[in-house]
Amino acid sequence: MTNEIRRVGVCGAGGTMGAGIAIVVARAGFETVSHDLSQDALDAAKKQISGFFGKSVERGKMNGTARDATLGRMQATTSLDALAGCDLIIEAVFEDLRIKQDLFRDLDSVCAEHTIFASNTSTLSITEIASGCGREDRVVGMHFCLPAQLMKLIEMSPGMNTSQQTFRSAWAFVDQAGQTPVKTQDKPGFILNALLVPFNNDVIRAVEAGVASPADIDKAIKAALGYKMGPCELLDLVGLDTQMRLCEAFYPVTLDVRSSAPPLLRRMVAAGHLGRKSGRGFYSYDGNTMFGG
Ligand SMILES: NC(=O)c1ccc[n+]([C@@H]2O[C@H](COP(=O)([O-])OP(=O)(O)OC[C@H]3O[C@@H](n4cnc5c(N)ncnc54)[C@H](O)[C@@H]3O)[C@@H](O)[C@H]2O)c1
Repeated sequence: MTNEIRRVGVCGAGGTMGAGIAIVVARAGFETVSHDLSQDALDAAKKQISGFFGKSVERGKMNGTARDATLGRMQATTSLDALAGCDLIIEAVFEDLRIKQDLFRDLDSVCAEHTIFASNTSTLSITEIASGCGREDRVVGMHFCLPAQLMKLIEMSPGMNTSQQTFRSAWAFVDQAGQTPVKTQDKPGFILNALLVPFNNDVIRAVEAGVASPADIDKAIKAALGYKMGPCELLDLVGLDTQMRLCEAFYPVTLDVRSSAPPLLRRMVAAGHLGRKSGRGFYSYDGNTMFGG
């Protein structure tokens, strides 16, 4: 079994997190295979990624040669078989236990023995995601923060059957990728979402109760607590549909009422007001370019 990671697959790479994770991985020098079920999503992500690296060059963070080399390390596919040569797979597909379990089970028959599977889940159990996949000892939690291409923190969590060697290799990869790992237990929401999902729902309920407008709530939180981004701005960036999936994953295992999806969240998702990705959430947006560069 080799611990060397050279080639990394990112599943769900047409999505908000997957596209950012693919940037982190390729920028750090790894061959990167972006995978998604949707070719349209991969095409849109490719455009966003080119725009992001274009801004990186404009801002002097990267030169044109490095940009071209990074883009040259990135390929995109809708075929799971194309992930066969990867040493590490990072999944960032929908926050749905069954979908993640099915994906890892399918990947088990495609990937080499040594390949490690990492999940970017925000709220689900790593042990449950790994259950039945056929390589439970080689599955680990690797939770990136939004926007992944800018944020350094990674919450690393071992499942009950994760081997120490897997955890060490995954941790070493995160270090090598220039990120900042912290160890958490395999508990719902790890550190960040255990605190953030209920808080963001409180904010949605406050908007629904008419306490204040989203803009004034954001202004208050930023001015008083020193946050760089208000909770409504953050929810628009996260995606209201993703927040709803987080609630649906979180609430049944915590039974914490604050983690249940507020009625306004449900209505916004039903209306297609998903935040930045759909052009409208708590705020309106023109286009969906990536944060930073
Ligand atoms: N949005 C956030 O703020 C955030 C932050 C950290 C972690 N996460 C986690 O990242 C994951 C993805 O969230 P997101 O907000 O990027 O979702 P998203 O809806 O933006 O993207 C999910 C992508 O996964 C693809 N997909 C779905 N099923 C697939 C499958 N079986 N194989 C391949 N691709 C598949 C979809 O086509 C879509 O492009 C979730 O587990 C979420 O909890 C999200």
